[in-house]
Amino acid sequence: MAERTIKWGIMGPGGISRTFATDLKRVEGAELVAVGSRSKERAEAFAAEFGAKRAYGSCEELAADPEVDIVYVGTVHPAHRDNMLTLIRGGKAVLCEKPFTMNAKQAEEVIREARVRGVFLMEAMWTRYLPPIVKVREWLREGKIGEVLLMTADFGFDIGWQPEGRLLNKELGGGALLDAGIYPVSFASMVFGTQPKRISSTARIGKTEVDEQFAALFEYEDGRAAQVAAAVRLRTSNEAILYGTKGQIRIPDFLFGKSATLLVHGEEPVTFTDNREAKGYNFEAEEAMRCLREGKKESDVMPLDETLAIMRTLDALRAQWNLTYPYAD
Ligand SMILES: NC(=O)c1ccc[n+]([C@@H]2O[C@H](COP(=O)([O-])OP(=O)(O)OC[C@H]3O[C@@H](n4cnc5c(N)ncnc54)[C@H](OP(=O)(O)O)[C@@H]3O)[C@@H](O)[C@H]2O)c1
Repeated sequence: MAERTIKWGIMGPGGISRTFATDLKRVEGAELVAVGSRSKERAEAFAAEFGAKRAYGSCEELAADPEVDIVYVGTVHPAHRDNMLTLIRGGKAVLCEKPFTMNAKQAEEVIREARVRGVFLMEAMWTRYLPPIVKVREWLREGKIGEVLLMTADFGFDIGWQPEGRLLNKELGGGALLDAGIYPVSFASMVFGTQPKRISSTARIGKTEVDEQFAALFEYEDGRAAQVAAAVRLRTSNEAILYGTKGQIRIPDFLFGKSATLLVHGEEPVTFTDNREAKGYNFEAEEAMRCLREGKKESDVMPLDETLAIMRTLDALRAQWNLTYPYAD
């Protein structure tokens, strides 16, 4: 029997929503039916481009659309909390872009609302669902590299000097940590299955008063450690390396996850390569749809308690740099 079609809405017709909608077309049993924006015209243009039937000039109207099962929230980070609360109160399942919220307090509030109302909620940490990362988790579960004692991961790119753009603009939640740094932080959380017990870090705060780059050392029990870094005005290698007692795992360009190499000491290297045509946002959509069909309220791969714990780690890092977002903190 064919599985029931899941009807999607998208809130925020911007850059990442365009990429998500493109990959969603490849997902069997998914249909984009409605788009929401602060501007009806922008919603209409996006709906026309991606074949959605309806377009709304507010999140409230999208939340009230009876045909919509789940909404992908692709707005700028400071809008995530309000968008999610509106959608959850409308009974919609939600898949929200990273960072889930601006801080842990907001994350707690949204998670509580979803749990009280019994609504599905998931952070769109898309990298966790990419086939090479799924393979890495399998290698770790199987103990292929023994106990992981050390890891490094960084994600840095250079957008140049764009003070008004989203990435450097404090009002829009700018800064390397919330946009790019969350990836290595979330990756360390996935690998060690916990948050660091001690953090030391440094950040370079730019003219717009947000972190243009940061580097951190995360310490866990028994001296295990993760070195993480991110930047929005500096290119870095974007590689993740896991060092275990029996070998290593190397993931070049780990954020985009096209391949991963297992190097067990004394054995030939094994490389897992994914030749997908999609960018890879289809996998998180498939996970959300699988959960919805099974009646689950959250994903086991990116559980809400972990999303919240990661937000607390981001808060702790920002506290070390005295970086606050006055409208959110
Ligand atoms: N998973 C990934 O690979 C990935 C990649 C890039 C970005 N992201 C995340 O996705 C989110 C959006 O990033 P983006 O690059 O797509 O951003 P964007 O194109 O600059 O903006 C996305 C949408 O947010 C809405 N928006 C803009 N300013 C707003 C404001 N002040 N208040 C409320 N809504 C506002 C706009 O929709 P309307 O004005 O039409 O309502 C806009 O279309 C961010 O949280 C980012 O971290 C994820």
